Amino acid sequence: MDFLSIKLQALSAINEAQDLNELENIRIKYLSKNGIVNQEMKKIVDLPQPQRSTFGQTANQVKLDIEKLYQQKVNNFSKEKSTKPSFFDITIPGRQPKHGHLHLVTQAIKEISDIFAKLGFERARYPEVEWDYYAFESLNMPADHPARDEWETLFVNQKANPKYGKIVLTPHTSNGQVREMLRLNSKPPIRMINISKTYRRQQDITHSIMFHQFEGLVVDQDINISHLKGTLDYFVKKFYGSKRQTRLRPFHFQFTEPSFEIDINCAICHGTGMIDKKKCKTCKQGWLELGGAGFVHPNVLKAGGINPNQFTGFAFGWGVERVYMMRSNIKIDDIRTLYENDIRFLNQF
Ligand code: FA5
Repeated sequence: MDFLSIKLQALSAINEAQDLNELENIRIKYLSKNGIVNQEMKKIVDLPQPQRSTFGQTANQVKLDIEKLYQQKVNNFSKEKSTKPSFFDITIPGRQPKHGHLHLVTQAIKEISDIFAKLGFERARYPEVEWDYYAFESLNMPADHPARDEWETLFVNQKANPKYGKIVLTPHTSNGQVREMLRLNSKPPIRMINISKTYRRQQDITHSIMFHQFEGLVVDQDINISHLKGTLDYFVKKFYGSKRQTRLRPFHFQFTEPSFEIDINCAICHGTGMIDKKKCKTCKQGWLELGGAGFVHPNVLKAGGINPNQFTGFAFGWGVERVYMMRSNIKIDDIRTLYENDIRFLNQF
């Protein structure tokens, strides 16, 4: 091989070397005592005298060029090595792992059950996939009763049971009322708070297909309307603070008599019903419905094996998501954002 080829080969190998080990191998191959450059230089003895001087000068220059690039590369690698942090450098601050947190609806459920626990309500949970009997029939809504239409129910495509009827995705937590009475062998006192998933064929700014309700049920002797009002007022003050306003509106439910709906002044438009001279799209009129309530119908007590002449009770069923959205510092104006699983949204709570 001639000196020019040796030089080009060596320089390109040095340029491509990835670490000091590779460089050392290149040095041995080209520059060591038995390396390619010295081997080539030995040919000088075969040359005629006048050519020897030029041959020797070329050989020395090639050796110097290779050594120069080799040394530069060694210096670069050494510098890089000394500035790279060592794997074992214990003074480097650690990386903070990302912390997750409970979903805001789970946080709300915990807060709601804690508030009712202070009043002695016992937390219960009844099936989401339920018999028609507990969701409707036992609640004073016999088959084909028009009141059932209100619940926009999703039915499961399974054979009906001769005693309990069709299978439904429960549209409200009131399915737990008779179940709780039976669980306690029809023996009041009862103080239940049932928080579960519920389903309806509805979807818009204040309705989602899956949502949660919390259902209170109190049955005992001498229960009257001031117990109902006092319990709901206590909850509202604890959850929203003392300044928020609620109102009771007369209503009709088949399973309570008398019945009410409870509204709260809207957190999005501060109860004015208007935002930027337009109707508030969340409440439309300054108030938003949180849920229903009333006195347990005698037929429901009977279905639970309780004598309505001896005991009375009240019940209420509110939407967890709606209740949470109406917190003044939250500003969620569309219920569906709660279930879009957008981390940028969820991280804020
Ligand atoms: C009921 O479901 C009754 N079971 C409540 C009740 C219980 C009355 C005990 C008397 C005694 P209603 O259909 O109004 O009532 O629903 C109650 C609340 O659930 C609503 O006010 C709302 O806050 C919430 N809700 C209802 N449908 C949806 C939905 N699709 N998405 C989100 N929240 C909903």
